[in-house]
Amino acid sequence: MAPPMRAISSVRGLFCLALLAVSTTGRSVARLSTRACASANAAGGRERISINDGWRFSRFTENPDGLSYEDNLKEWILPQGNDFIVNGTKHTRPSGTAPGADVEYVQAFFDDSAWEKVNLPHDWAIKGPFGAPNISTSEGSLPVNGVGWYRRNLSEAETAAGKSVFLDIDGAMSYAAVWLNGELVGGWPYGYASFRLDLTPYLKGSDNTLAIRLDNPLDSSRWYPGAGIYRNVWLVTADETHVSQYGTYATTPEVTSESATVNLVVSVENKGSLSRQVGVVTKVYPYDAALREPGSEVVASFTKQVINVAAGTKQSVRGSVTVTDPLLWGPVPSQTPNLYVAMTTLTGSNGTVIDTYSTRFGIRSIEYVAEQGLLVNGEHVYLQGTCNHHDLGSLGAAFNYRATHRQLEMLQEMGVNALRTSHNPPAPEFLEMADEMGFVVMDELFDVWLEPKVTNDYNVLFADWHEADLRSFLRRDRNHASVVAWSFGNEIPEQSSADGRTLARSLQAIILSEEPTRQTSLALNSAKPGTGLPDTADIIGLNYQGEGQGTTFESAFPAFHAQYPDKMIWSTETSSVLSTRGTYIFPVVGNSSTTVGVGPSPGWDEAALTVSAYELYAPSWGSSPDKVFAQQDRYPYVAGEFVWTGFDYLGEPTPYDTGARSSYFGIIDLAGFKKDRFYLYQARWRANLPMAHLLPHWSFGAERMNRTTPVHVFSSGDEAELFVNGVSKGRKVKEEYEYRFRWDDVVYTPGEIKVVAYKDGAVWAEDSKRTVGAAAQLNVTVDRATIDGDGRDLAFVTVAVVDADGDVVPEAANAITFALEGPGEIVSTDNGDPRDMTPFPSPERNAFSGYALAIVRADRGAVGEITLSASADGLVGGEVVVQAA
Ligand code: GAL
Repeated sequence: MAPPMRAISSVRGLFCLALLAVSTTGRSVARLSTRACASANAAGGRERISINDGWRFSRFTENPDGLSYEDNLKEWILPQGNDFIVNGTKHTRPSGTAPGADVEYVQAFFDDSAWEKVNLPHDWAIKGPFGAPNISTSEGSLPVNGVGWYRRNLSEAETAAGKSVFLDIDGAMSYAAVWLNGELVGGWPYGYASFRLDLTPYLKGSDNTLAIRLDNPLDSSRWYPGAGIYRNVWLVTADETHVSQYGTYATTPEVTSESATVNLVVSVENKGSLSRQVGVVTKVYPYDAALREPGSEVVASFTKQVINVAAGTKQSVRGSVTVTDPLLWGPVPSQTPNLYVAMTTLTGSNGTVIDTYSTRFGIRSIEYVAEQGLLVNGEHVYLQGTCNHHDLGSLGAAFNYRATHRQLEMLQEMGVNALRTSHNPPAPEFLEMADEMGFVVMDELFDVWLEPKVTNDYNVLFADWHEADLRSFLRRDRNHASVVAWSFGNEIPEQSSADGRTLARSLQAIILSEEPTRQTSLALNSAKPGTGLPDTADIIGLNYQGEGQGTTFESAFPAFHAQYPDKMIWSTETSSVLSTRGTYIFPVVGNSSTTVGVGPSPGWDEAALTVSAYELYAPSWGSSPDKVFAQQDRYPYVAGEFVWTGFDYLGEPTPYDTGARSSYFGIIDLAGFKKDRFYLYQARWRANLPMAHLLPHWSFGAERMNRTTPVHVFSSGDEAELFVNGVSKGRKVKEEYEYRFRWDDVVYTPGEIKVVAYKDGAVWAEDSKRTVGAAAQLNVTVDRATIDGDGRDLAFVTVAVVDADGDVVPEAANAITFALEGPGEIVSTDNGDPRDMTPFPSPERNAFSGYALAIVRADRGAVGEITLSASADGLVGGEVVVQAA
């Protein structure tokens, strides 16, 4: 695809808007959107174009301009939240000259040619180097701090009578302040928030200078926050009378398989100086998932309403339609994520189309049942969820459609049906993918309120911004079928206090007034029934305390269930098991069904900064996956769990506060390579998939010869038999509350281990591992043979170090050099080793536990072959060809 794309919307073509929002990958999508947009009626449409390309950027570690949110920008930026203030006091923009007018970076004349050329989404910190001054390992040791300036000529925007021009920023980290033609327009401090600025009053013809200042303080986050304009940025041009920002709200209060009621609120904003009579018409189309555009059949039409919208005001219309035989949205695999599109057209008094707007939504019912869990369309859906941070490994926080989609594909392969956006709103496209792929989502906003976890986290913004951030978040995300709960706090420090309860009640009231169709939740790690926060949210969300933290089995589920017999309970965060992919530490201590390793334990090698991949070892608050499963099964009224975490993420390298860059919590490592744990979850969550997975590898050196080397098997079978060098070690039955097969007394001798798993007495699946030979060659593969030549789509290239027979050498750590020929570039490399401090853009990368990864991007407009080769001393190299199309 070839952004920037100009999307012009009319009735059919208006879906360009939504398509563009999801079309940052895939030439096919772009072609569709281009076609859909080309058929649009420019006269009646709005335009929404990507302005991701062509920026200049500079980072300053010292304040370069005398500006600061606290000292001089705040009063000017606060009014930005006014649209989202109902309870609190709205802010008035101060009079006089706004700050920054004298800063050269905001001026057209400033020569930025020495600044770095960047395209958005952009994360200035991800290229490193690691070991950035004053940055803790918890923030990933990367240079996130400082002031960043972005500049761009906004030739796409021009002054036009009767038109409004908006800048939509999906996310900028953080304290964004925006100038157009030297004048401060506004900004938004919370780095995870999406926001809109009205550029119209500041435009000068078609030669406009846009300058954006970001400011990341030290100690702003418990994890790697990223830095920069790290999500998509859009320019929206519409008639000055138009559907407001987040201006539609679709709900489905009554749903059966025969018929559904769809209610729609449309908010119309008139930014002009005269009152305007507007006709509002909405038609509902099914969404064609294959073509990713609305189908042609109109399944329902809202009655046309004519309203007078006074100058400078907003007015809403409400309507209701019945859709017969609706195609319901529901999570896979048992249901289908069908979607609909409501296409709204505004017409002027003479009948001309003045605005068009599309809203994608799903028809589905949700029930939160205290004794059973979540019902979607009346069907019980046990929640098999993961918590997910926003970074994309070696790509950093910079949003990338393909990288996000790949993560969700892998989670779905594991059996995940639920996602928690820990602990902040995700990129809008994340929810679009969740809608399309059929996940349910717990959408989360805050990690703290007034009491901090680190000095400069959201606590400094809460008082001024919580209402605006909360309402804006709800309005942005309310039409997503996938969202089933609003979480307004993770492990809030004031969770047990009376003050915390008062605060929680006021936040809960805001949510109820704004979006009452989903229940709310909080993630509570220490509050007890009857104290502080549990009384406030609709769903009881428990972090770790349901299964009993650490070695204890004292579950908090019964007490909460007794105190709140009408509330659904779910485990908002579980396990926190730590492991280093492919690394096995002996002796193996810990009975998976009864206890786990706690604190520095035999499963941790503190000198090597590794944790054993037997998948048993957790910090003091965590538990093995097996123990969590058992506790979930003992309390079947619990709706399910969200495991901490699906993927390793940057920062928070518990248990090694020094020496590591990224987490050990992931079921999948930072590079996207599966840890053994992947198969433990898959065995439970996809019980009908025949699979068996053996661990450890069977290629140890002399130091393990004749030593006890337990063999564990993760399988969806109910019985399994292990063979070591052809000799049976016995057939075992998976007993109640057991989730792995263990042969703990196996003695290592080279050769082969093999497992045969059974289900209901019949052979179900097999797996084997053999002692491999010396590393001989590099096996290079790619996730997709063809990628789009759009400058954004990515190919993920895996290098496996293999022996002469092609089997992966499990402890291989060879130094690999990547090289690329053709119209593309190596964006980053990785190996999933949390200790590897080689900067991510490096084409040199050691393999780790046999594997390394290179991420390749085709150049904008590229067509043809891109060859990625990998070489290593003493080994036969390999290459793979990727077609850019
Ligand atoms: C939780 C917290 C998460 C993460 C996790 C690590 O208490 O909510 O953000 O820090 O611990 O185990």
